[in-house]
Amino acid sequence: MRRYSRITGTGSYLPPRRLTNADLVDELGQRGIETSDEWIVERTGIRARHFAAPDVTCSDMGVEAARNALQAAGLDPTDIDLIIVATSTPDMVFPSAACILQNKLGANGCPAFDVQAVCSGFIYALTVADSMIQSGAARRALVVGSEVFSRILDFNDRTTCVLFGDGAGAVVLEASDTPGILSSDLHADGKHVDILCVPGNVSGGQVLGDPLLKMDGQAVFKLAVGLLEKAAHAVLAKAGLQESDIDWLIPHQANIRIMQGTARKLKLPMDKVVVTVDQHGNTSAASIPLALDHAVRTGQVQPGQTLLLEGVGGGFTWGAVLLKL
Ligand code: UT7
Repeated sequence: MRRYSRITGTGSYLPPRRLTNADLVDELGQRGIETSDEWIVERTGIRARHFAAPDVTCSDMGVEAARNALQAAGLDPTDIDLIIVATSTPDMVFPSAACILQNKLGANGCPAFDVQAVCSGFIYALTVADSMIQSGAARRALVVGSEVFSRILDFNDRTTCVLFGDGAGAVVLEASDTPGILSSDLHADGKHVDILCVPGNVSGGQVLGDPLLKMDGQAVFKLAVGLLEKAAHAVLAKAGLQESDIDWLIPHQANIRIMQGTARKLKLPMDKVVVTVDQHGNTSAASIPLALDHAVRTGQVQPGQTLLLEGVGGGFTWGAVLLKL
């Protein structure tokens, strides 16, 4: 009998400090940076975001999301035999945020590692965990997306600093006789490194190069919709399903216009799209599990429904996962 993996619990965490556009416009205004609530809402759909306190790390938020997911699955930390954290803003250069999170959670001993695929990170991590469960290498995995993008934002660059927020989301993925994850599709094209990157690095005890996020927003935008459409069609074809079989699209929450464009290409009405970008901003690898947990806990998505998760981001990376909840 084929072995599948299935999401049995979801969780999330948002840091308490919430900034509306008006709050951010005020803070940026004090630095002489001009922006407005109207511009941010019209171009992105974002109305608010959360920022972590200075002493809060990726693993701190990730472990809260993980605890919530474990509780939803009815499991203890020691039941977990694999931990994958998707992040581009880990606590340290090394060890991985996954190892630090594992110790905080009390799940010591199981394999734990980070996946770095920026805003596609959760899709990558979920696919790796699914493969390890299918192969028999793991039975109960914790897959976390956690980001503190506020640490890598240039608050003198209005074209990027209004877009991102902090937070974490997690799922418990368990081996099952029935699906679960139906199909996945991952891609990367390294020739687009420069359009979305944090170019700095640590060398000889110093940070060399600029350690803040740089993005050519229009270039990213132009690539995103087409790549997301291709990934969606690839996972549908692999699973033998049609666009009309999708109950919910849960896309990476970067920009409402990208989500509307993707939905249009897939002939899905916007009331089949889970939208949290208005309240969370772009939380990179955390955005999909945050949106999923929100949709599960509000009863928007229901057990047995077919969900299309998809992400796109720095690398360039992109991918999709089709699953039955
Ligand atoms: O998570 C990874 C994936 N990332 C994304 O998906 C982001 C993709 N890109 C985008 O979402 C959009 O390209 C942005 C939201 C980043 C920008 O929207 P846009 O419609 O492409 O705006 P634009 O870059 O064409 O800028 C239009 C105008 C410019 O002024 P001029 O040159 O027309 O006078 C900008 O200087 O808007 C100006 N502008 C701003 N104005 C007020 C840029 N940022 C701001 C701002 N406030 N914060």
